[in-house]
Amino acid sequence: MRIEIFEPKHFAGGVADELAITLGEIVDDQGTCSIALSGGSTPGVVYRALGLPPRVEEIPWNDLKFFLGDERFVPPDDSRSNYKMVQETLFSTLREQKPKLFPVNTKLSNCAASANDYAEILTKEIPCDKGIPIFDVMILGVGEDGHTASLFPGTPSVNDTSAVCVCVPHPTDGTQRISLGRHVIVAAKRIFFLAKGASKAEIIQRVIEGTDSPDIYPSRIFTEAQDKVTWFLDSEAAAKLKI
Ligand code: 6PG
Repeated sequence: MRIEIFEPKHFAGGVADELAITLGEIVDDQGTCSIALSGGSTPGVVYRALGLPPRVEEIPWNDLKFFLGDERFVPPDDSRSNYKMVQETLFSTLREQKPKLFPVNTKLSNCAASANDYAEILTKEIPCDKGIPIFDVMILGVGEDGHTASLFPGTPSVNDTSAVCVCVPHPTDGTQRISLGRHVIVAAKRIFFLAKGASKAEIIQRVIEGTDSPDIYPSRIFTEAQDKVTWFLDSEAAAKLKI
């Protein structure tokens, strides 16, 4: 496991630089690269930085396949949509570059149908091992309650090790979520957790240095894939780490 800590003002550029290098190396090696994007408010600044010079010229966009690590079961033009967020922060800034983006179809009759539909897309578009899509890069956030993607504390989805995608109710905001399943997340070849801001300092310390089970803090599933995990933190989110 690697932990990279940036001063707040360098977080977006620093993470974008690392991502740009990683994407380039993977495409050089295998000709294509599948990336699961996190939603939420943290990654937007990184996505914007990816679409700016010099990185925008360095990244092999046309060889990339972008997916969503989770999505809210809302229309694609809804302000809560992760698809809308990635469109606005990244894809709308690209001109001649044409990466492929595979959104969750949230116009189906219900959340479970959307989760099943996305699972079919993933298993068709990404090489699988025993039915598990193996992403090249998994970008994740951490909620203040320790959730990641849409695996929330104390919910059955945290321990569902069969579903490629799960449909889960958000514990408080009333939305339903489609999320990659736990075993898909930990099966990825490279797993990047992103967290910034003082509000995340407590949970980051508990997740990285604590011993609670993923039932308590689902982000602790990282321990199942330690050698593939990099934590990208700003100094505020890292402030309570004892390292
Ligand atoms: C989502 C995300 C979710 C997010 C965390 C952290 O759809 O909201 O996928 O897992 O990463 O909730 O959110 P912030 O970055 O807004 O703190």
